[in-house]
Amino acid sequence: MSHRLINGRDVAAQVTEALEDRLQALRAQDTNPGLAVVVVGDDPASHVYVRMKGKACERLGMLSRTHILPSTTSEDDLLDLIDALNADGEIHGILCQLPLPPHINERKVIERIDPRKDVDAFHPYNVGRMLIGDPLFLPATPAGVQRLLISHDIETRGKHVVVLGRSNIVGKPMASILMQKGEGGDATVTVAHSRSTDLPGLCRQADILIAAVGIPFFVKADMVKEGAVVIDVGTNRVDDPGSEKGYRLVGDVDFDNVKEKAAAISPSPGGVGPMTIAMLMENTVKAAEMTLRP
Ligand code: GUN
Repeated sequence: MSHRLINGRDVAAQVTEALEDRLQALRAQDTNPGLAVVVVGDDPASHVYVRMKGKACERLGMLSRTHILPSTTSEDDLLDLIDALNADGEIHGILCQLPLPPHINERKVIERIDPRKDVDAFHPYNVGRMLIGDPLFLPATPAGVQRLLISHDIETRGKHVVVLGRSNIVGKPMASILMQKGEGGDATVTVAHSRSTDLPGLCRQADILIAAVGIPFFVKADMVKEGAVVIDVGTNRVDDPGSEKGYRLVGDVDFDNVKEKAAAISPSPGGVGPMTIAMLMENTVKAAEMTLRP
């Protein structure tokens, strides 16, 4: 089957471009959105993401502040920083890059962020608002997947979407977003995970299969229905002694084989990634707008 390639780059550029007018309106009211990104420790992937988020802000002329803290930072010191950012009038969005070192309670940190500055939408207040269908912000990656489906005219209404993975960052919010009423929603959603019975059989029922398990090449061709839409959200490092860095990034989907069965497929890398950043920028602009129109 000839497949359609879904690449997030163009849609991400459109999302970002659409922010320009809103930024101009904000600046006319003496407000420039500011995003504070906090990273604790030296997880190399986290530092890559944090750099990308900072650069995206700067490209839009928004204020970007990155706080790089050592892995020995105490929970109290991190909470003090969050308190200061909550009180900082120049900062409209606060994001604490996960994972945090094991001695820091992740939930406690997330819950310290002012929900109106919680541009990751990880605070239980925002998770709750998402679930009832009245969100302040939507989490960037699943919101980006939804936007990607909409902009490629991929109907979700009445379709069976199987979400592989149940993380708080992707799987659970993805399911919640797709089951809501309205455009990009109205789907019948199954969340499949490591304890699901007959996972390949569940995946084969999917009209739209969204993989977010964090296991390289987990989704094989025999797990995909002919003509399905496949979205790979996984980003995994695998050893690659032949490459300069000694590793390469691969997704959760065995792309070369799965693409032969899919009607449309979004690879990783090269798919959802730029959408995550674009949606984060959109959330930060919204957070700034909310301070003017509370
Ligand atoms: N770690 C992996 N994805 C994310 C994300 O979207 N936001 C934050 N803060 N940490 C992450």
